[in-house]
Amino acid sequence: MPFTLPELPFAKDALEPHMSSRTFDFHYGKHHAGYVKKLNAGIDGTKFADMALIDIIRATAKGGENTGIFNNAAQTWNHTFFWNSMSPNGGGEPSGALADKIQASFGSLDNFKDKFADAAASQFGSGWAWLVENKGQLEIWTTSNAKTPITEDGVKPLITLDVWEHAYYLDYQNGRPDFIRAFLDHLINWEFAARNLAVE
Ligand code: FE2
Repeated sequence: MPFTLPELPFAKDALEPHMSSRTFDFHYGKHHAGYVKKLNAGIDGTKFADMALIDIIRATAKGGENTGIFNNAAQTWNHTFFWNSMSPNGGGEPSGALADKIQASFGSLDNFKDKFADAAASQFGSGWAWLVENKGQLEIWTTSNAKTPITEDGVKPLITLDVWEHAYYLDYQNGRPDFIRAFLDHLINWEFAARNLAVE
């Protein structure tokens, strides 16, 4: 079965003014849709055709002749995870076990936000910023291009932010730090992060 582009978890204008409907027209409607389409074309007639998306990503993560399949599979997964990392009611503060873990790992929510913003702004070129749980500890990771923490044993992604230029250029032009701050203050979906943390 070919993969399909998942529905957005909110209306495409629901994150305005922080992320515009026009950005979704391109980022979701062209870029994400394009990764799904190229993934389907790449796996057609191969041993990957009947595999689950995560299994394709893990099986191709070492690169080599399957780099193209990896890139489109990982970008398909990363973008779906990114849309769910945001909410029209986002921002604010985490609660419960997640809040406790952020306190323990980063000292305070403000300190987490500063460290995440620095990491996301410093990722050179295209890539992603992540909050992950690694062996019980929360950590901030960045990955380049399509790379994704789900290929690492024992690492659980909780939240991601797309820092490819296509994620922010229409709304912020070259102002990546302003985009990152809007994500942290107004869009980040702490309930999604808490659900991911709770999965065994
Ligand atoms: Fe993207």
